[in-house]
Amino acid sequence: MLEAEQVKIAVVGSLNMDYSVMLEKKPAAGETVLANNMMITPGGKGANQAYAAGRTGGSVQMIGRVGEDVNAKIIKDTLKEQCISIEGIRTDKENPTGMAIITLDDQAQNSIIVCPGANRCVTASETVETLERLPNLKIIMMQLEIPISCVEQTIDYANKHKIITFLDPAPVPREGLSDATYKMLDYISPNAIEAEMLSGIPVSDMDSARKAAGFFLKKGVKNVIIKLGGEGVYATDGLSEIMIPAIEIPVVDTTAAGDTFAGAFCTRLEKGDRFFDAVRYANYASGLSVAGKGAQKSMPSAEEIDQFMQHRAKGKEKA
Ligand code: ATP
Ligand code: RIB
Repeated sequence: MLEAEQVKIAVVGSLNMDYSVMLEKKPAAGETVLANNMMITPGGKGANQAYAAGRTGGSVQMIGRVGEDVNAKIIKDTLKEQCISIEGIRTDKENPTGMAIITLDDQAQNSIIVCPGANRCVTASETVETLERLPNLKIIMMQLEIPISCVEQTIDYANKHKIITFLDPAPVPREGLSDATYKMLDYISPNAIEAEMLSGIPVSDMDSARKAAGFFLKKGVKNVIIKLGGEGVYATDGLSEIMIPAIEIPVVDTTAAGDTFAGAFCTRLEKGDRFFDAVRYANYASGLSVAGKGAQKSMPSAEEIDQFMQHRAKGKEKA
């Protein structure tokens, strides 16, 4: 088990059990269809990102809430397998562990409904209390499946303690994000849809991603990463920019590709990579994750990513 002094990355966020159903075509309103298969696996954007960071070699603590049920045990045991500290996970006596209902069709397109359960009860005070026990923290990762007030106050805490903040703004809250929050963010990583919802600028390619990134930079975010699914990823710090194409790989399930990206990116950043190098690494990690089913189940290890990168480098030398 990781000691508090060893923790470098804290993930403040959701933990869910994912109920994934594989079917040819999603049912229309009033229609009943038979599924081809189903899978029950640990998920939740927070837990996924913690898992991805741990799997790529990060020293991670997960902070959040689960219910007093069997799903909680499975989720925590899975995180422990990656040596992730679960000291920051509280048990909620009144609400069940969060759940997600995921449909995955033949085109590898997924739709997700999240039932927050205990995630809805994560508070800022308990989060800050937990963070205060981590003396060597470098990065706090967040998403938006827990109360926004908790995320805002966590960002404020991080800012006062000079801890790097990384926000994956998913799902986008109806009211958007406050100007004060944007100003305190070191990294934001929306996908194309989230970037459009927050900036009002439709995003589909590098040019439109650059425009949307301009919105976030103007708000005061220091570094912007816009994930473009099968097109790859755009990133900028306002001075320079990079567009990295997605790796070519057979797509099975894109669930948690963005979470894999976030975890791998923060691990590399914490280990000293420069911004664009960490983005490049995360693009490999998330690309590899779409070749397998399930959220955490499909996330590649640091060794698997290294092997893939070496293989590609050799291929390029030959070409
Ligand atoms: P999710 O919500 O499914 O976790 P996301 O919507 O946050 O993901 P995406 O833009 O779908 O994020 O994907 C994140 C990253 O995963 C992309 O930037 C890319 O690096 C990789 N990726 C996604 N889809 C593919 C694909 N079809 N082929 C290769 N890489 C992909
Ligand atoms: O990003 C994928 C995750 O979103 C799933 O694991 C599901 O639990 C939802 O939180």
